[in-house]
Amino acid sequence: MLLTATNPTSVNAFAEALSRWYRQHKRDLPWRRDPSPYKTVVSEFMLQQTQVKTVLPYFARWLDALPDFAALAAAPESQVLKLWEGLGYYSRARNLHKLAKTLVALPAVPNTPEGWRELPGVGPYTAAAITSIAFGAPVACVDGNVVRILSRLSADKTNFRDSATAAKYFTPLAGQLISKTAPGDHNQAMMELGATVCHRRNPLCTICPVLQFCRAGQSGDAEQYPKLAAKTIESVTVDRVWHVREGKLLLHRSSATARRFADMHELPRASDAGHDQASLSHAQARRLVTKKRAITRYAITEIIHDVSAVPLRGVADSSSELVWVALDDLEQITLSGPHRRWIRELLAK
Ligand code: ADE
Repeated sequence: MLLTATNPTSVNAFAEALSRWYRQHKRDLPWRRDPSPYKTVVSEFMLQQTQVKTVLPYFARWLDALPDFAALAAAPESQVLKLWEGLGYYSRARNLHKLAKTLVALPAVPNTPEGWRELPGVGPYTAAAITSIAFGAPVACVDGNVVRILSRLSADKTNFRDSATAAKYFTPLAGQLISKTAPGDHNQAMMELGATVCHRRNPLCTICPVLQFCRAGQSGDAEQYPKLAAKTIESVTVDRVWHVREGKLLLHRSSATARRFADMHELPRASDAGHDQASLSHAQARRLVTKKRAITRYAITEIIHDVSAVPLRGVADSSSELVWVALDDLEQITLSGPHRRWIRELLAK
C-alpha cells in the first residue's frame, strides 16, 4: 500500500511499520537513555550540522561537567567554550549558554514549540525536536533527512531552490504523519531512517521498513529525490602564517563577535600579522602546507606560510589580537578544531 496523506489507513500502517522498525533497530544513544529535557536540548544543539558519531564524546564530557541547566547557567563562558572546542559553529554553544541562563530565570520550562522558538538558537526544527522528544508535543521535525524521506515516499518532483524551501514545503505532510501518541519516537525514527537507511546516495531500499509505502522506492529511482538545486560554491583562499620565536607560537585571539566566542585562537591570517604577498614571497618564507575545507557554501583553501625567519614587521607585536603562546601552553588555550589539528601536525614534523 503506497502512502497517501489523505488515506488514514495508509498513514497508520506507515507509522506502525516505522515504529516497529525503530523499536528494534534504534541506536543506543546516550540522550535516549534516561531522557531528560536537558539531555534533549544539549543533544539537539550539538546535532545541528554535526553527525552523531562526532557528537558522542562531546556529549559525554559535557554532561559530566555540566549536568543540568543550573550548572550550565552558572558556568563561565571559558568552560563552555573549552567543552565545545572542535565541534565548530560556536554560536551554538553561546546560544545554549544563553538559553540556560534564560531558562533558570523563568518560572517554568516552556513545553510548546512556540515557547521554545523564543529562546536563543532555537529554530523550527530544534523546537519541534525538543518539544516532541521531551514533552510529547505532536509536532513534526523537518530537516534534510526528513525532506529526503518524504520526497521519496511521495515521489514529489517539485524543484527546490534550497533545503529551507524544501523543508517548508514538506512540513504539512510531515504534520499529517506525526504520531499523536509517541511523536518524539516518530521524529527520532524518521531521523534514524534518514541516517541509516534512506541515504542521499545509494539508499538501502531493499532493507527499508517502509519500502511498500514508497513511490520512489517502488520505481527504483529514490536517488532522484529530492530535486534540490545544486549549491553555488564559492572558492576562497586564505594565507595564514606560522611564526615560532623563542618557543612561542604567534596566534590570533578573537574578541567576541556575533559568530565567535572571545578567546578563540587561530593561526593568524597573513594580513592580520602584517604580511602581504611581498613578505610571503620573501626568500626566508616557506610554504608549509595547504589545507582545504568546506564551510557552508565556501570551498576554502588555506595556505600556511612559515615566516619564522622573516624579519618581524612590528605589527605582530602591537596588535592586541595577536598573542605569543608558549608551545607548552597550547593544550590549555582554546583553539578552533582544524587549527588544533594543523598545529599538532606541524609541530610533529
Ligand atoms: N539528529 C538530530 N536529532 C537527533 C536525535 N535525537 N537522534 C539522532 N539523530 C539526531
